[in-house]
Amino acid sequence: MTNEELKKLKFQSKAVYYSPDPETKSVSEPIYMTSNFQYNKEHYQKIIDGDRESVYIYTRCGNPTERKLEKQIALLEGSEDALVTSSGMAAISTLIMGIVEHGDNIIADRTTYSTSHEFFEEVLPKFGVETKFVNTLDLKEVENAIDEKTKIIYAETIANPIIKLTPIKELGELAHKHGLTYIVDNTFASPRLLRPIELGADFVVESATKFIGGHNDVLGGIIAGNSEFLYELRWERLTKFGGTISPFNAWLLLRGLQTMSLRVDKACENALKLAKYLENHPKVEKVSYPGLESHPNHELAKEILPKFGSMINFKVKDEESGVEFLNALKLCCFAGSLGGVRTTLQPPATCAFLDIPEKERNEMGIYLGMIRVSTGIEDIEDIICDFEQAFDKI
Ligand SMILES: Cc1ncc(COP(=O)(O)O)c(C=O)c1O
Repeated sequence: MTNEELKKLKFQSKAVYYSPDPETKSVSEPIYMTSNFQYNKEHYQKIIDGDRESVYIYTRCGNPTERKLEKQIALLEGSEDALVTSSGMAAISTLIMGIVEHGDNIIADRTTYSTSHEFFEEVLPKFGVETKFVNTLDLKEVENAIDEKTKIIYAETIANPIIKLTPIKELGELAHKHGLTYIVDNTFASPRLLRPIELGADFVVESATKFIGGHNDVLGGIIAGNSEFLYELRWERLTKFGGTISPFNAWLLLRGLQTMSLRVDKACENALKLAKYLENHPKVEKVSYPGLESHPNHELAKEILPKFGSMINFKVKDEESGVEFLNALKLCCFAGSLGGVRTTLQPPATCAFLDIPEKERNEMGIYLGMIRVSTGIEDIEDIICDFEQAFDKI
C-alpha cells in the first residue's frame, strides 16, 4: 500500500495495517533489540557526511523499532512526524526544554498531571523559566497572562484528575494570534478520541504508558508535531538528555496501538454506565464525567469528543472512607496510572498529588475524598458489583 493510500484509511485500519518486513515478510513487526549498529565503509562515510536519516548509529540516537513506532504515531495523530521517549515525562520535559531559554515564561493550566505541574513549578525556575498558572477555560485570563517573554501555552485535553475539558481549538487560535507554541497533553483522551493536531495544536505530548500501551506493562512517551523541529529536538535534546525508549518497549507500544480503539471504546462505554450508577449512589456526593449532563463542560465534550472518555472522578465523605472503599475492591485495582485493560482507581489528593501542598491542591480542584477511576474493559455488571460490595464496607 502506498503512503497516500494508507493516509486515506480510517483510524482502526491505519492502526492494524502492517507492510511486511521486506527481508523476512513477517506479518508482525520485528524487534531490533540492539544497542548499536555495525558499520561498513559506505555506512561510515554517510555518518561522517552528516546523513542521519538513512543510517542507524546507536540506539540512543535512533533504532528501527522506535522509528516504526514514531511513523505509526504520526499516522494516527495526523502529524508530520513524532518522537518517542522512555516515558511521558521524558516527552514533556524534552519538548519544553527544546523550546524555552533562560528568561522565558510559559503559560500552563492550573491543573495538570502532578509531575508535569512540579516540573513547571520547581524544575523550570532553576533554569530561569517561569510558569504562569491559569484556567485555560477562561481565554481572557490566558490572554492577560501573555507577555513578550511568553513562549508556550500548555494544557491537557482532559485535565488529570479533575476531568475538566480544554477548549482545544480556541486556545490554539489565541496562542497563534500571539505567535506562541501550543502544546497539548492528550493522555486522558488518547488519539482514538481526539487528535489535537487536527484542531490546531503545534505539538501533542502523551504518556503512551496509558491508552497506547493499554496493558499496564510498559512506559513510554510521545511527541507529535512538525518534522523539521522534531529532527532538531532528537539531536539537540533527546540524545543529549538520553530519555530514549527501549526497542522492546517501542514494540509493546506498537502492539498496543493495534487494539487501542477497541479498548478505548469499551472503556468509554463502561465509564458512561459506571458514572450513571455513581450519580445515583447514596454514598457518592458528586461525580465528574463529561458524558453526564451535570458536568460543566458537557456541551464542549459533545462538540469535541466522539465518546466521553474513560476517566471519572467522584466524591465520598472523606479520604478515610475513600481508602476503605479502595481497599475493599476485589476485581478492580487500587493503583496509580490509568488507561489499561483493568479498572484502576486511586485517591489523587494523597496519591499522585501528595507532594503538592494542600492549598495549591485545592486551587487545582483536587480535594480529600476524591476518587479517580480509569475504567477498563471488564464486564460492567462485574465492575458495578465490585463497587457495590466495596461501598457496603464504608
Ligand atoms: C496527563 C499525564 N501526562 C503525563 C504523564 C506522565 O507520563 P509517564 O508516567 O509515562 O511519565 C501522566 C502520568 O500519569 C499523565 O497522567
